[in-house]
Amino acid sequence: MSVTVDWMDEARAIHWFEPPQTLLDDSNPPFYRWFPDGSTNACYNALDYHVAHGRAQQTALIVDSPVTGSAYSYSYAELLDAVARCAGALVQCGVETGDRVLIYMPMVAEAVIGMLACARIGAVHSVVFGGFASNELAVRIDDAAPRVILSASCGIEPTRVVPYKPLLDAAIDTAVHKPDHCIVLQRDALAAELVEGRDIDWQRVMMDAPLQECVPVPANHPLYILYTSGTTGQPKGVVRDTGGSIVALKWSMKAVYDVNPGDVFWAASDVGWVVGHSYIVYGPLFNGSTSVLYEGKPVGTPDAGAFWRVIEQYEVNVLFTAPTAFRAIRKEDPLGECIRQYDLSSLRSLFLAGERCDPDTLNWAQEQLRVPVIDHWWQTETGWPICSNCLGIEVLPIVPGSPARPVPGYDVVVLDETGEPVSDDTIGALAIRLPLPPGTFVTLWNADERFEQAYFSRYPGYYETGDAGYIDDNGYVFVMARTDDVINVAGHRLSTGAMEEVLASHPDVAECAVIGVKDSLKGQVPLGLLVLSDGVTRDPQEIVSEVIAAVRETIGPVAVFKRCHIVNRLPKTRSGKILRATMRSIADQQPYKVPATIDDPAILDEISDLLL
Ligand code: COA
Ligand code: AMP
Repeated sequence: MSVTVDWMDEARAIHWFEPPQTLLDDSNPPFYRWFPDGSTNACYNALDYHVAHGRAQQTALIVDSPVTGSAYSYSYAELLDAVARCAGALVQCGVETGDRVLIYMPMVAEAVIGMLACARIGAVHSVVFGGFASNELAVRIDDAAPRVILSASCGIEPTRVVPYKPLLDAAIDTAVHKPDHCIVLQRDALAAELVEGRDIDWQRVMMDAPLQECVPVPANHPLYILYTSGTTGQPKGVVRDTGGSIVALKWSMKAVYDVNPGDVFWAASDVGWVVGHSYIVYGPLFNGSTSVLYEGKPVGTPDAGAFWRVIEQYEVNVLFTAPTAFRAIRKEDPLGECIRQYDLSSLRSLFLAGERCDPDTLNWAQEQLRVPVIDHWWQTETGWPICSNCLGIEVLPIVPGSPARPVPGYDVVVLDETGEPVSDDTIGALAIRLPLPPGTFVTLWNADERFEQAYFSRYPGYYETGDAGYIDDNGYVFVMARTDDVINVAGHRLSTGAMEEVLASHPDVAECAVIGVKDSLKGQVPLGLLVLSDGVTRDPQEIVSEVIAAVRETIGPVAVFKRCHIVNRLPKTRSGKILRATMRSIADQQPYKVPATIDDPAILDEISDLLL
């Protein structure tokens, strides 16, 4: 069955201050604008609308934090009050519609409150994942130029407290742009020192803040910037607009996830990632559902039963997480004994995304949970799934290894190197015919040209996803690998190019390469290869330790850069291109062809000896 969506019809399902008369402005491709003459507000659609329509007392947000031993919830009315107050505080700090507010926070309710408060006044939030180091934060501060930063004294990882404030202070010191104010949430685990005149205590400012009403904004007003890894150290600031996001996310809650208002939806991700934006915060709230914010891990907080405890306790209907979380659980509880200690009768389905889902993990999850396990494919750029078994439209047979068929709104094709569509089952570049549907990215912040160049120049008329794969004769899409230097580590998207920049800046390193190699738990992990400068006589292990520390300090622990070797030379083509794909195949023990253009094939033997 092929379903098309009437987006104007779907637009009628949301609240507008000024309903749109025009569906799509396609006069300036690839800068498409959905609902260009409408006016709306994302916070109104997430909160005020539901409070006004009988959901004031329904739980909007459940916060469960095994790392602090606390759990609490907000009704729609309570969340609205907190958000309106936070919006009032932002206005008092001088934030105006269109200003940027950077949010560097752990998984606390205040992160959600801050995001919605920005949306309430038309400020553009940019959430930065807590696992990034201060240098990454500084790059984002300079690009987004926020007037205010919302942060917290610390994050809490299972084995340590992560002091956020020193990281934030260092980032502001490094950045050229300086925010006017930082509003800092003091957490019990660690108090932060506040900088007089600049920093403001969260609790204190919220106590006296006035309640701020929603500001209507044009549909194409930016809702947020979310930085994601590209091929270089300069991250891409994905910009999503307001009207399209509300329409698409609300539609997807029912069509893709089959979630109704009042249902409990749990995206076990982080607000710093796109999944968190779309399906911890906006999607469930636009839909009048209950969302779970979980500050913990699938294992170790305290054990492999953590997810099942949450599902039982809050009667979660639909769970969404990354395959890596299931691999971690399976490793500790291969027989699913923890699973059987809990009542999971509320659970209707499990959705997995963020990386390719190996069939073994999918089958295990399905056998253990006895609910449909849906692999679905999407990206920060699209903001919602490109391919999925859409449980609210038509349940398709599950084919492990495939995220099923394109979601209505996405016209997915496979192209060869010349941009011609290929036949069924032939691998090529996965591309999407333009226009992209509502709710997908509209540009890159401060970088319209990079937006056009990076995504739309190679295949005119298409969006280049950066993924390679094939479509079978049943229309099922198989996403096999990235075509660029992006890797996926434990469901986290990272740039090997950014890591190479850190390695190359070490004074003793002449040349380097970073490749993503297979890892049974995290899917992929980075592996570095260094060629030292002539005349370096220092202990090589010391240099390796230094570059490992440098990546952790510059990019962050989330890069999981722990493997690095020194080699005499790197394999290259005669024109000097480093053969990263060949090295990746060697490390993954995959068959490979020695490229005809290789400069010196003997180097591959040295690399094989080292990596195998
Ligand atoms: N703040 C500070 N540090 C963080 C962090 C945060 N928000 N998130 C992760 N880190 C740190 C971790 O503490 C770890 O540090 P370490 O090297 O000192 O141990 C490092 O970054 C790597 O973290 P991670 O890759 O998450 O490894 P892990 O061993 O802590 O957990 C998993 C492994 C598989 C359990 C975990 O990665 C997971 O649950 N992944 C799911 C990812 C996900 O939801 N992705 C979103 C797409 S749906
Ligand atoms: P991110 O932007 O962090 O969501 O990462 C997007 C990338 O993750 C995609 O381009 C894919 O490479 C990968 N990815 C996400 N979901 C899937 C999936 N279901 N199957 C295969 N790869 C996926």
